[in-house]
Amino acid sequence: MRINTDKNAKKTEKEIEKLLGKMTLDEKISMIHGAALFKSGGVERLGIPGIMTSDGPMGVREEFMSDRWIPAGNNDDRVSYLPSNSALASTWNPRRAYEMGKVLGAEARGRGKDVILAPGINIKRSPLCGRNFEYMSEDPKLVTTLTVPFIKGVQENDVAACVKHFAANVQETDRLMVDEEIDERTLYEIYFPAFKAAVQEAKSYSIMAAYNKVNGYHCCENKDLLDVVLRGEWGYDGAVISDWGGVHKTKEAAECSLDLEMSVFPDFDEYLLANPLKELIEKGEISEEVVDAKVRNLLRMMFRIKMLGKQKAERKAGAYNTPEHREMILRTAEESMILLKNEKQTLPLNPAKIKKLVVIGQNAAKIHSDGGGSAEIKALYEICPLMGLKCYLGGNAEVRYVKGYHVPEKRKTFDHNWQADSLDDLKDTTVGMLVREDDVPEAHRKGEEERLAQLEKDKAEIHEKNQVLFAEAIEAAKDADAVIFVGGLNHNIDSEGADRTDMSLPYEQDALIEALLKVRKDLIVTLIGGSPVEMPWRDKAQAILWSYYAGMETGTAFAKIIFGDINPSGKLAETFPDQYRDCVTAKNGQFGVWGKIKLEEGLYCGYRYFDRQHIAPAYCFGHGLSYTQFTYGGLTLKAEKGKTVKLSFTVKNTGKRLGSEVVQVYVAPIAPRVDRPDKELKAYAKVKLAPGKSGKVTLTLKQEDFAYFDEHLHSFIADAGDYAILVGASSEDIRLKGIATLA
Ligand code: BGC
Repeated sequence: MRINTDKNAKKTEKEIEKLLGKMTLDEKISMIHGAALFKSGGVERLGIPGIMTSDGPMGVREEFMSDRWIPAGNNDDRVSYLPSNSALASTWNPRRAYEMGKVLGAEARGRGKDVILAPGINIKRSPLCGRNFEYMSEDPKLVTTLTVPFIKGVQENDVAACVKHFAANVQETDRLMVDEEIDERTLYEIYFPAFKAAVQEAKSYSIMAAYNKVNGYHCCENKDLLDVVLRGEWGYDGAVISDWGGVHKTKEAAECSLDLEMSVFPDFDEYLLANPLKELIEKGEISEEVVDAKVRNLLRMMFRIKMLGKQKAERKAGAYNTPEHREMILRTAEESMILLKNEKQTLPLNPAKIKKLVVIGQNAAKIHSDGGGSAEIKALYEICPLMGLKCYLGGNAEVRYVKGYHVPEKRKTFDHNWQADSLDDLKDTTVGMLVREDDVPEAHRKGEEERLAQLEKDKAEIHEKNQVLFAEAIEAAKDADAVIFVGGLNHNIDSEGADRTDMSLPYEQDALIEALLKVRKDLIVTLIGGSPVEMPWRDKAQAILWSYYAGMETGTAFAKIIFGDINPSGKLAETFPDQYRDCVTAKNGQFGVWGKIKLEEGLYCGYRYFDRQHIAPAYCFGHGLSYTQFTYGGLTLKAEKGKTVKLSFTVKNTGKRLGSEVVQVYVAPIAPRVDRPDKELKAYAKVKLAPGKSGKVTLTLKQEDFAYFDEHLHSFIADAGDYAILVGASSEDIRLKGIATLA
């Protein structure tokens, strides 16, 4: 089965065959591996250029030297810095996902790229995963509904999305070697759906195979994943690109559906799909046909993005750093911030009443775009919260900033530019070149030990410096019309290559917040981070606002929310546990360990686990407040032909401000034949309502929304029977309930 993504698919296939027929073995091989760190080989003689790839998910990364992990040092590669996928997901707005895709695609094309290594859509299994900030959610439905428009937006620009990392890239610890044991049902219900939709609905022109192993085999050489599922069941005919350095064995990678080997080393001819492959073909151990299949897939992708053939003249030019991009980024940031708590109408602040504002905490003044690993960006600019507040208030109000707590410098052993600590150990520091080590995992482990030892040393330094900083902050807090704390995490912690060691706020922030709350009950606690944190003081705080890394306009959006120009409408796309020990990955321990992990929890990831165990999280999946209030009513359900269910209900804005509400629909099987999660998100909508106004929401649940994966039949089954349909403002705040009967 082939997906026909081209209008002229047949013609393209003919052209592909024609080109292939003209190629020598060497030329074919040159196309299927890196010829530079971010570029594949081309065949100049036939007018086939190399494919230019670039990270990443939060904007187009700066230019690197072709054979060194050193930035080229250009001044023309600053770009728009987009909200992270975790911020995007909190908008619960597919329209924003489409816009962000469009911006990313246009910027990538504008920078002359062919493939943008985004979006990152892995399911968040543990709040401690270092790359969670790059990913969207713990829930497959939410990820799917945002991924599809995102990819469509990217690809409208004649640039290929490279959706990553297939599959189940759930932890950074031992990320190059860890073997994840996952049962089939869990793969199909939790870890696969968004990837399936990415290739079938969004028609992603490329996909990145992950570093980790799934059920014994590295993803880049995993026949079950790539041949059976991706190509076989899903009919994928686009390009499969390895994660950088993710290929381990020549024969295995050659003989499965991986098309392009990329890596972090500059010895391009020694890549496993380069000379070593050629030798095996010449010895007759591997058929040349496997190379042809890879070249076909790459050429197909190149035709689709108009790199080849007559349509080259029509290829879009893209553009970067446009005012429209910044406008769309701001809108997304505004919709992404989540009001977790707001008692006594602490927020919004009335700017007319603020003559002296005290802002405490390092994230007020911190730039985040330049960190995190391969998602780091050389941003055109980044407005931090402090600048946002000052720009908003102007010169008539006094804004005093104090650091509050100490953040040690990130002591990178190597230059700032290298993306991932997990590979630092391989680098020759003097020339920015990665040197192959005999035992990569061992070098990786050593690096991790050094990192942990350094963290311990940092603790003492933090404690000492905080004595002075805390006292200064507490004094400052006493003398102000309002006090805003801006703390949270940063990319020393939310980072590729390492998982977090715990879920608490770093740098003794909890102690500072407790102390500040003693002198200011009305302290506004705002946190910026890429993954949940414990908030032991949350009962005492009146107002808590959460923001993920929200892009270049973070500070502008932040100020508009603080002063009420924007009414917050973000909702959590992941559970915020009360304490890490409540999480499934803390209970079974099989997270963040080396070697092998078993996903024993199966389907019970995120809220599915909290529901089943009756554990109350701090803030549940789907939670997020507004400055106005909404009531829900009038649910009607209509089962059509016993297969689909149409539901409608009304939402009313009963408060005094314009606001948007994300209404969520969960399906809860009553008396299921097999074990199933208590409830699962199956639909949602975002409704914008003026004060006093009502809106009717109509949604359709398809048969697949009632289905589970039957391992014996190897297909999705929707059993006849009764299902509770729960309509809510969050996964716990269920406002309406009905029963649908499936025939
Ligand atoms: C990351 C990928 C990234 C690639 C290229 C890898 O370390 O896992 O997400 O696209 O590097 O920078």
